[in-house]
This record gives sequence, structure tokens and C-alpha cells, in this order.
Amino acid sequence: MIELRTIPELKAWVSDARARGQRIGLVPTMGALHQGHLALVDAARAGSDVVVMSIFVNPAQFGPGEDLSRYPRDLARDRGLAAGRGVDLLFVPPVEAMYPAGADVRVAPGTVARRWEGEFRPGHFAGVLTIVAKLFHLVEPSRAWFGQKDFQQATLIRQMVRDLDFPLSVDVVRTVREPDGLALSSRNAFLSPADRAQAPGLSRALGAAAAAFASGEHGAAALERVMQGGLAVHPGVEVEYIAVADPRTLEPVATADDHTVVLIAARVGSTRLIDNVILSEGL
Ligand code: PAJ
Repeated sequence: MIELRTIPELKAWVSDARARGQRIGLVPTMGALHQGHLALVDAARAGSDVVVMSIFVNPAQFGPGEDLSRYPRDLARDRGLAAGRGVDLLFVPPVEAMYPAGADVRVAPGTVARRWEGEFRPGHFAGVLTIVAKLFHLVEPSRAWFGQKDFQQATLIRQMVRDLDFPLSVDVVRTVREPDGLALSSRNAFLSPADRAQAPGLSRALGAAAAAFASGEHGAAALERVMQGGLAVHPGVEVEYIAVADPRTLEPVATADDHTVVLIAARVGSTRLIDNVILSEGL
């Protein structure tokens, strides 16, 4: 595996790969790698000739009171995991490379960013779309892989690719979970043992909603009540939102169908967690 930090080196590598006719697959991450990230690498290896992973804790997507400074960072460990899984190029730029002094243009997300994460994290998605757009321009991938775990993010990236005519396709990989259902996340490292015991409340509530849907309950209000009932036994889970929504517009629906997604965000101790399920697919 090659590791590069500068944009000129990255561009030289990309143009060599393209000159050889290789299709480049891109897996953007913020590091603190886990099996969810590595599942994206597996998919990228299967669907492209060379795999580029970026590791960049993107300041533009963190709000003022958020966890930018304490976000977990362990490049030595990440390097081993990425190389072991078959990443060809690890791109690890410093902040000044991605945001040189004076860089302040942002990609503005549309109405899909208005609710849910967009409401609780103002500016977050503009930061995400900006860095992802830059990575798309720099790496020139033919495909890029994202996780269903960040459902609204994946929807917005798909929309950006379509609306701004990026010449690539976006693939979404199912959420990788712990045996007890907790979605893998770099932020799980912040959970105290007591928080960790409460954290599966999110996926259990989603699983209960999917089970209710499978047995014929399609009313959004009733599905939300099922989830609230399940969460009652997890007093450490402070819900920020539960959304029963259309997967493309992210607008709430009154009646769920096979495409409907249920999204949840909650605080567990000092950690903010998100998760989701497509009702007809289950966890
Ligand atoms: P990060 O949280 O590091 O996640 C990188 C990618 O891994 C995202 O596409 C995310 O959805 C996916 N992912 C995270 N947990 C997963 C899980 N349990 N199962 C499957 N996939 C999972 O998301 C970001 O970084 C950033 O916003 C980024 C897109 C890199 C832009 O900065």
C-alpha cells in the first residue's frame, strides 16, 4: 500500500492509474477504522481495479460544540487495517492541503438536508458535500462507496452526483453491526461501559419497528410508538429524533411502504449515535 499526503502526488498517482486503464474505487473515511469501513473496502475491491481510501477528519463538517478535537485518531492502526484489507492507496492529507488559507466556498445541500441530521447539526452536510466533492475531483473514481449507517449523508451524496453531473456511481453498503445489534461507529469508542450497555437501545427500537412492519403495522405513528415502547427500558438513551421517512426526500410519511426508512438519533451519555433501518429489509 502506498501512502500519500499531498495533492500533487495524489494527482500523479491517479493519472498513472487512469493511463493504465484502471478503474479507481474510492472509500472516503475519517479514520478510526472499524469493520464497517473495511466492508466498504471489500465492496470497492470487488467493484474496481484499484482502491483509494482517504482518511481525513474534516473540520468543515463539525459544528462549534462538536467533537472535532477529541475525534479518535490512530493512523498507525488504520494503516495496518487498510493495508491488510487490500487498499492500494491511502490518502491522508493535512488540513492545509484540503483547506488552504482563504478556502471558503461550500457545496450547498438542498432540501434533503433540511431535517434530521441537518437540523441537529447545522452546516454539517455542507461540510460533508464539500469534502466529498473535492475528493471526487482529486481521485477521479469511477465508483465510490458509502455506508447505509449514515443514510441521509448517502442520499445527499447520490443527489449531489446526479445534480452536479459527477461522472461516477455511488454504492451504498449495508450497516455492519456488533453481535448485539449496535451499529459500528468510530464514536462507539467514547461509550463508557454503562453507556455501552444502553447503546443497543437504538438498534433494538429499529428492529422492533421492522418486526411490527413485517406483521402488518404500516402506520408511522404506531411504528414510532413501538419504538418509544422499546426505548422505555433504555433510560440512558435520550432520543433526538425518530423519523419514518421517504428514502429519497427524507420527508416524513404517514404510512410506511417497502421503501420507507426509519432513522433514529440519540445521546447516550456524552456520545451522539445514529442508526436506521429500511423497514422491509430489517437490520
Ligand atoms: P466516517 O464516519 O469515517 O465513515 C466513512 C464511511 O464508512 C461512511 O460512508 C460511513 O457511512 C461508513 N460507515 C460507518 N460506519 C459503518 C458501519 N457500521 N457499516 C457500514 N458502513 C459504515 O462518514 C464519514 O466518515 C464522513 O462524513 C465522510 C463521508 C468521510 C466525509 O468526511
